[in-house]
Amino acid sequence: MINSASQAQTPLLTALYECAKSSHAPFYTPGHKRGVGISPSLIDVFGKSVFTADLPELTELDNLFAPEGVIDEAQQLAAEAFGAARTWFLVNGSTCGIEAAIMATCNAGDKIILPRNVHSSVIAGLILSGAIPIFINPEYDAVLDIAHSITPESVAVALHQHPDAKAVLMVYPTYYGVCGDVAKIANIVHQYNIPLILDEAHGAHFAFHPDLPISGLAAGADICVQSTHKTLGAMTQASMLHVQGNIVNYDRISKVLQLVQSTSPSYILMASLDAARAQMALHGNSLITQTLQFAHTARLNINKIPGLSTPLSPPYQALLGGFINLDATRLTINVSNLGITGFEADEILETQLAVRSELASLQNLTFIISIGNTQQDIDKLIQAFNTLAGMAPVSKNNTKLTSAKILYSLTASNSILHISPREAYFAASETLPLDQTYSRISAETICPYPPGIPVLMPGEIITKEALEYLQKVKVLGGFLTGCSDTTLKTLKVIA
Ligand SMILES: Cc1ncc(COP(=O)(O)O)c(C=O)c1O
Repeated sequence: MINSASQAQTPLLTALYECAKSSHAPFYTPGHKRGVGISPSLIDVFGKSVFTADLPELTELDNLFAPEGVIDEAQQLAAEAFGAARTWFLVNGSTCGIEAAIMATCNAGDKIILPRNVHSSVIAGLILSGAIPIFINPEYDAVLDIAHSITPESVAVALHQHPDAKAVLMVYPTYYGVCGDVAKIANIVHQYNIPLILDEAHGAHFAFHPDLPISGLAAGADICVQSTHKTLGAMTQASMLHVQGNIVNYDRISKVLQLVQSTSPSYILMASLDAARAQMALHGNSLITQTLQFAHTARLNINKIPGLSTPLSPPYQALLGGFINLDATRLTINVSNLGITGFEADEILETQLAVRSELASLQNLTFIISIGNTQQDIDKLIQAFNTLAGMAPVSKNNTKLTSAKILYSLTASNSILHISPREAYFAASETLPLDQTYSRISAETICPYPPGIPVLMPGEIITKEALEYLQKVKVLGGFLTGCSDTTLKTLKVIA
């Protein structure tokens, strides 16, 4: 039960403010000494106050890696508000939290079960830990060209085949706000007495409104890593790692977090976590009620515009096991019936209509609607799409759109891991023309969009099917990420 009186406190922010005001001669880092030595051009842009609060680990400000004072208090309040047994503040994004979660649960050579459409921070976690990935395919929606979550069934099968796995990791929600069945998956995973790790980078707001999907912690996950900065009011990079239960070793999490974060963590970022937590604990329900209303208004009006649709909308049809709930604040607009790609629509919105999306893909544009949006933003969005729909089709490659849907054919079971991602990452590599890479070992991740599922990971054998698939993606207008040569003329392989 949340205690509103204590949740109104912001111990870290308050201590930082007091320190910023205190009069003393500073002979410590940072070198700008509370803004006095900062470049005037920075003061012109940002004002002075932010720099007076840019302070190091002074006595009153506690220590992120051995918290006993205000950071400890702030983290305990966050744990209470988010429903965790313990919470760690992160200053290097969910990226460092995900890396730490994998390193805290897997030794080199240990198996971890995870979907193939993971964020690059998960691959970094595999490289840092030396863990061996056991990939399962996410459910794929061929109509939308969107990969959803993994299913309880696929996790059960993977665990049956690999009962020695040390952890299961899933993405919850996906970038599109689609949620898998965490509660069921947690139950299955716990039968093996191993932890379920959630990449909940896009779900920090879930704990604060009953009309949002259940939060990962409430559904029974053991480690939840959230980018507080993505959907709540914290500053960029400011994130949290939450833990509950007794499967995970809390001391090991503290230890590995020191490996992946700066020894000079920014107090401005940490104070923003303290303030964002208090804001949500006190006002989260009303702020998200308004956000959901904005999202509803946007959907209602966009769907009235000929040629546009919002395929991921409540009441959604959960046709696939990897899609049992939806974060309605995540708005995906399909533009393919306008005869243009999502990329082209995005460019027009940005350059001509002063609206900026979060993510563009071949058919869709995705928008994050959050507590920071206003009615004017929503009006502008609707107006911009009205204008866009009134423009003549400008597509350079709309003939390719429908054929893109048939792209997804390669499955995780096709991939053959020859050496661990860690070995592959550190091994000597060479760059070869594409047609000479068959049966070599990939030194890089190659992820085509659509559908955003890596075809090759470091350490995997390059098959004929993988090469043909990648070439098809290029021909059909998709693009590649993760690789050093996105034109696909060459690939990096283990020497
Ligand atoms: C699914 C997912 N996981 C993890 C991350 C990493 O989060 P952060 O930017 O907080 O490091 C991202 C960032 O975009 C993401 O989309």
